[in-house]
Amino acid sequence: MSIRFLVLGFPSTRVCMCDPLDPSPPEVRYSAVLCSVMSLPKGVDAVFSPRSDAPKRAFPATAAVEASRGFAAGAVREQEEGGGQPLRKDRPSRTALRVASSRAAHQILDEPRILDDPLAMRIIGVDAAQEILGNRQRQQTLAARYLRAFVVARSRVAEDTLAQAVAHGVRQYVVLGAGLDTFACRNPHGDALQVFEVDHPATQAWKRSRLAGAGIATPGSLVFVPIDFESQTLPEQLRAAGFRPQAPAFFSWLGVSMYLTRNTVFNTLRYVASLPAGSGIVFDYAPSLDTLSLARRLIVRTVMLRVAAAGEPWRTFFDPRQLPGEVQGLGFAAAEDIGPEALNAQFCDARADGLRIGQIPRLIRARV
Ligand SMILES: C[S@@+](CC[C@H](N)C(=O)[O-])C[C@H]1O[C@@H](n2cnc3c(N)ncnc32)[C@H](O)[C@@H]1O
Repeated sequence: MSIRFLVLGFPSTRVCMCDPLDPSPPEVRYSAVLCSVMSLPKGVDAVFSPRSDAPKRAFPATAAVEASRGFAAGAVREQEEGGGQPLRKDRPSRTALRVASSRAAHQILDEPRILDDPLAMRIIGVDAAQEILGNRQRQQTLAARYLRAFVVARSRVAEDTLAQAVAHGVRQYVVLGAGLDTFACRNPHGDALQVFEVDHPATQAWKRSRLAGAGIATPGSLVFVPIDFESQTLPEQLRAAGFRPQAPAFFSWLGVSMYLTRNTVFNTLRYVASLPAGSGIVFDYAPSLDTLSLARRLIVRTVMLRVAAAGEPWRTFFDPRQLPGEVQGLGFAAAEDIGPEALNAQFCDARADGLRIGQIPRLIRARV
């Protein structure tokens, strides 16, 4: 079954055909085509679907572009896969606000919650909270639901794995690229667990002002560690902040690896692997495009265009068939790849509201 779309207009008629052997369900293929339409520059007039299994009528492409408000379609078409400049140094991460807003939306839209985060709505600030509350429908698109489900599931996996580590005596938790993560301020393990939030200085300063603005107290167990992963070394920054490398530590690194170079990702993992037994990490990554179906590649490309437009291009992708072995080769005792099937089985299959994780993002859980 294939879906064929004619995209009329710029620069001339385009044909976008989904792979006939693509096993993705129709709504995934359809949204992939929509995504590719959304990434077209201005001037596209209409999308016409001639096939019987596709949505029945032609609709104006401008509606699709409009649906992706805030996304500078066309402006970032020149972005190359894996290329682009690193995070801008002079301003906080915009993608951090995007994923934090997903956690906040989850608190009010989804039942049961995968992640309970009573601070999620407060930390994003009044404007972002009002945007969610004032337009709940916008949070219910397939793309918004896929992102939300993954963002909360990855935090749950990290926090559940941390809880096991704490039960085995770990007393240091390092949140790499913390963004607006609120764990440190709702830490159920109390002051016995020291939390190091490591992030880009501009994002960290912005987070601290958000915490103050929302009246969220920062516990004495929280230490802020500024870093630029690309130009500073994690061991030095952590040690200067009071981290004890002779004691085990658990790390989470969520929504960050794709913004860094492969070298930086592996150097950071190598450092975690060098810590005492009992240490571990959970991180997520973007799978290499050549491991994905055409429809999913289109979706990833659209995400890449969006984050590049926000000034934070994706730079690194990994092959899920090789990454666990590569991570183990850095010195970990074990590394497990956790894909969407396993995450859906754990968090989504039994839900009545249909919230699900899309078939693209993946996690690695590794222990020393
Ligand atoms: C998508 S956000 C994820 C934030 C958080 N982990 C979460 O899940 O809410 C990406 C984070 O990576 C950080 N980041 C990206 N590049 C960085 C770099 N070169 N050095 C330090 N932090 C970086 C950003 O500041 C931001 O906090």
